[in-house]
Amino acid sequence: MAGGKPYYLTTPIYYVNDAPHLGHAYTTVACDALARFMRLDGRQVKFLTGTDEHGQKVEKSARATGVDPQTFCDRVSAQFRDVTRLMNVTNDDFIRTSEPRHVRGVQALWQELQQRGEIYLGRFAGWYAVRDEAFYDEGELVGGRAPTGAEVEWVEEENYFFRLSAWQDRLLKFYDDNPDFIAPRARRNEVISFVKGGLRDLSISRTSFTWGIPVPGDPRHVVYVWLDALANYITALGYPETKSGDFATFWPADLHAVGKDIIRFHCVYWPAFLMGAGLEPPKRVFANGWWTVEGQKMSKSVGNVIPPSQLVEQYGTDAVRYFMLRELPFGSDGDFSHRAVVGRINADLANGLGNLAQRVLSQINRNCAGKVPQPGPPAAADEALLATARGLLATLRGEFAEQAFHRALEALWQVIGDADRYVAEQAPWTLKKTDPKRMETVLYVLAEVIRHLAILVQPVVPAAAAKLLDQLALPADRRDFAALAKPLVPGTTLPKPEGIFPRFVEAPEPA
Ligand code: MSP
Repeated sequence: MAGGKPYYLTTPIYYVNDAPHLGHAYTTVACDALARFMRLDGRQVKFLTGTDEHGQKVEKSARATGVDPQTFCDRVSAQFRDVTRLMNVTNDDFIRTSEPRHVRGVQALWQELQQRGEIYLGRFAGWYAVRDEAFYDEGELVGGRAPTGAEVEWVEEENYFFRLSAWQDRLLKFYDDNPDFIAPRARRNEVISFVKGGLRDLSISRTSFTWGIPVPGDPRHVVYVWLDALANYITALGYPETKSGDFATFWPADLHAVGKDIIRFHCVYWPAFLMGAGLEPPKRVFANGWWTVEGQKMSKSVGNVIPPSQLVEQYGTDAVRYFMLRELPFGSDGDFSHRAVVGRINADLANGLGNLAQRVLSQINRNCAGKVPQPGPPAAADEALLATARGLLATLRGEFAEQAFHRALEALWQVIGDADRYVAEQAPWTLKKTDPKRMETVLYVLAEVIRHLAILVQPVVPAAAAKLLDQLALPADRRDFAALAKPLVPGTTLPKPEGIFPRFVEAPEPA
């Protein structure tokens, strides 16, 4: 909805050296739920995702495939774009770091930093891990490898440096002044203790390979891939144009969602680069946890890397989205197992929301001539159930603001449980014979609760929610959060109800 307060959120941009898997789909789906939530809540949303295409790692992968880096990037970037479609993701833009708009913006940022005295030419000697695209101190190595387990190589080059050491106190003050900048809390503590440990100047150019953005005025160097990559969040807004357009509207970002492994880049280097260039840091960085698969780390050598297409084929887009956001707190690690997904599909979706909607709508269809029933005076139980449904929006706003998707879903499912108990207590099928007027009131109350649930669950299971809203005959302009206050109109004809969440039935083992 145009005109609302702007809300800008981003996913990490994904390296193209690897095909997309469920870990990538995870952050993107979470951001999509948040983007949809904010749009439904009247905010003017910009939701960015994309691909990170430069660096030694990508250059090596391209060479191994026998194609030039750009052709290689085009191919893999398209696969990430396909994932957004597959997962029903509503990103407003998709940035690629090989695009001219990005290259221009990065070079402008470099020049700005240089003019402000933040960059100097020096000599680098140290360990570099290509897999992490990160430099490590001798003291950080564990058994001759990076702390992440990546192989390191000794690098000695002339490099440009960013004066990171000069930012230690200003960063600590910034974290102090902005307690919500890093979430969850454990990550915040981790970053603060890293910065308190002392910062060294950061090498921000390389000369030993060429697949990158040339340093302005010194094209023997390419820009360090993390300075290049982080800048996507502003180049997509039209940087270096800051006074008008998207930058003026959307910066600073409301949220960068990132994996827990890349928190240092986002919470230390990025705010320092931005402040160094005279720009505001983002408002918040949230670090999500990592998925294992059937208890094991996903890895090519184990052969358990799950492509998002496989999940969608097996369970459907909405079910995967629901599972990812319900199964664990966004900041925690968790396990992706077939049993757990099927359990959620059957218990929460089919038997929970699906069954409630189907039962109520089919009774309305049979017993109220397929029209929204006419409610009579409400009883205390009706008021109580409606009050819980009406209270959901405020609860969900709080949970989404903290990226607590699992708690938002818990709150919705609590009301589904309340509605189930209400159905059992009120027994509308008995009222049909004893008190048909009261039956109409009960079914109306339930239809209203289902309307609330369907509107509020849209961010997480958009396709199923749309079907449910169709079955309530709600026009497109009655589906946002402002429309929660507009009750169903008695007498409206409803289409024939249909199940929205099928039960997952295991295929029999092949004989
Ligand atoms: N290109 C950088 C990010 C640059 S952002 C300016 C990068 N890319 S990545 O493709 O390697 O990782 C992207 C994200 O995927 C990271 O946030 C990482 O945490 C996440 N995940 C990779 N494997 C994952 C799981 N198994 N589970 C959850 N998230 C995972 O880093």
